[in-house]
Amino acid sequence: MNIWNVFAPVYEFSMRTQKNIYDFLYARIAEVAKGKDVLELATGPGMIARHIAPAAKSVVATDFAPKMIETALKAKNPDNLSFEVADATSLRFADNSFDIVVIANALHIIPNPEKALEEIRRVLKDGGLLIAPNFFFREGGKKNLWQKFLSLVGIRFAHEWTEKEYKAFLESNGWKIKMDRVIEGRIDLIYVECILGIQVPLIHSNNSGGVSNLRDTVA
Ligand SMILES: C[S@@+](CC[C@H](N)C(=O)[O-])C[C@H]1O[C@@H](n2cnc3c(N)ncnc32)[C@H](O)[C@@H]1O
Repeated sequence: MNIWNVFAPVYEFSMRTQKNIYDFLYARIAEVAKGKDVLELATGPGMIARHIAPAAKSVVATDFAPKMIETALKAKNPDNLSFEVADATSLRFADNSFDIVVIANALHIIPNPEKALEEIRRVLKDGGLLIAPNFFFREGGKKNLWQKFLSLVGIRFAHEWTEKEYKAFLESNGWKIKMDRVIEGRIDLIYVECILGIQVPLIHSNNSGGVSNLRDTVA
């Protein structure tokens, strides 16, 4: 059973106590997405997509839970916003399709988030922007009351990253963080905007004097 299908009808309501966080996300992402083609992954019931679409050129918003998409479609949505069911780790979109990819509060849920980052890299145009705000855990892994409650009702996180660990995870996958900000809330959130480090061929001498064609990522 996909727990996110169960939570779909109440998700938006339950996030009302995180209003300051969502208000920041709506305003900041709408500003950055002005006139751009945007893909949102793991949109849930589409709150971010719906708020940024009036500023963007187009928004395609996706989630792997069909009930989340069903719920999103029931709202009043702008004409330039479309929804579809899609797994963030396996996307149907062509390479170099979008100016911006947004994935909010989801990489910590996905067991293989590196795969989602690979797909994001593939579908982003050259010079494109990844916006990946994520709730984080406190240093020492101590859960606050709300995180304990989520655990009790069956919501599991594949990765319990602290702010530092989350940023290190993005960087170790080749992303350069251009802007980051902590927004405090019931669960604190780290907002990040990233671009790809430049892939450059590195020539390494090996012991026998030959060269290998290793690649590395530089920011
Ligand atoms: C905590 S909610 C975040 C929803 C929304 N982005 C937000 O910030 O309010 C996590 C969402 O990730 C979706 N999700 C989890 N794994 C996914 C995957 N592999 N591909 C696409 N969506 C996924 C869930 O269905 C759920 O809607």
